[in-house]
Amino acid sequence: MIEIEHLTKRYRGHAAVDDLSFTAAPGRVTGFLGPNGAGKSTTIRAVLGLDRPDAGRALIGGRRYAELDRPLTRVGALLEAEALHPGRTAYHHLLWQAKSNGLGRERVEAVLAETGLTDAASRRTRGFSLGMRQRLGVAAALLGDPEVLILDEPVNGLDPEGVVWIRELMKRLAAEGRTVLVSSHLMAEMALTAEHLVVIGKGRLLADLPLDAFMAANGGSTLEEAFMQLTNGSVEYRGGAR
Ligand SMILES: Nc1ncnc2c1ncn2[C@@H]1O[C@H](COP(=O)(O)OP(=O)(O)OP(=O)(O)O)[C@@H](O)[C@H]1O
Ligand SMILES: [Mg+2]
Repeated sequence: MIEIEHLTKRYRGHAAVDDLSFTAAPGRVTGFLGPNGAGKSTTIRAVLGLDRPDAGRALIGGRRYAELDRPLTRVGALLEAEALHPGRTAYHHLLWQAKSNGLGRERVEAVLAETGLTDAASRRTRGFSLGMRQRLGVAAALLGDPEVLILDEPVNGLDPEGVVWIRELMKRLAAEGRTVLVSSHLMAEMALTAEHLVVIGKGRLLADLPLDAFMAANGGSTLEEAFMQLTNGSVEYRGGAR
């Protein structure tokens, strides 16, 4: 379970996350939605101890990230635009993380197979395509077989086969009783994947509802329409002259 309690994070006086509270429960995929700049990645970084909150807290299974022993075995995460060591192979990228968390080579091999990267394992990540990098990020998230998974825009760059694969993977992980929190801007995809939605805008909570209740509350025949209806007043970056 992930618990966000009155979380606030400010950058230069601007609240990127503003008194945000919600829970991502085990056994379901929770879609974490919001317009560009809403504070999704900032929230995720706070959960992972990469950003220190100005107020409130973010807990994984009741503990702060910094208090977790062998953290990869408790929470796995795919972050936005994650840096890879370009000269390292996919295998060594994973092995290095596995070793630092007391995990063996068999876990590296298992996650390479799970993400379809077995044949690319000995290639340096320098030459990886966007989709391959995403798969490697998912592989790293799965390494410790964690109860909690946090995926920031995992569908980015995946080919159609990959989109179906990540959708089915997230559903299976949730069906196994894990907590899965996933951010995405792809509403049609979220409608197929998430059972529960947490929507934020300008750092604040806008909705925390099961998918069907969200649709009923916000009208629209598609999730995209319902989302745009709800977040209309929270969009900071809008294209075109309107
Ligand atoms: N390191 C940082 N320094 C300064 N401002 C930041 C930093 N990180 C995020 N912000 C600001 O915080 C706000 C929230 O950004 P965040 O990246 O969390 O949004 P997001 O919901 O993940 O957006 P997107 O959908 O575009 O990924 C934005 O206004 C952003 O400019
Ligand atoms: Mg983001």
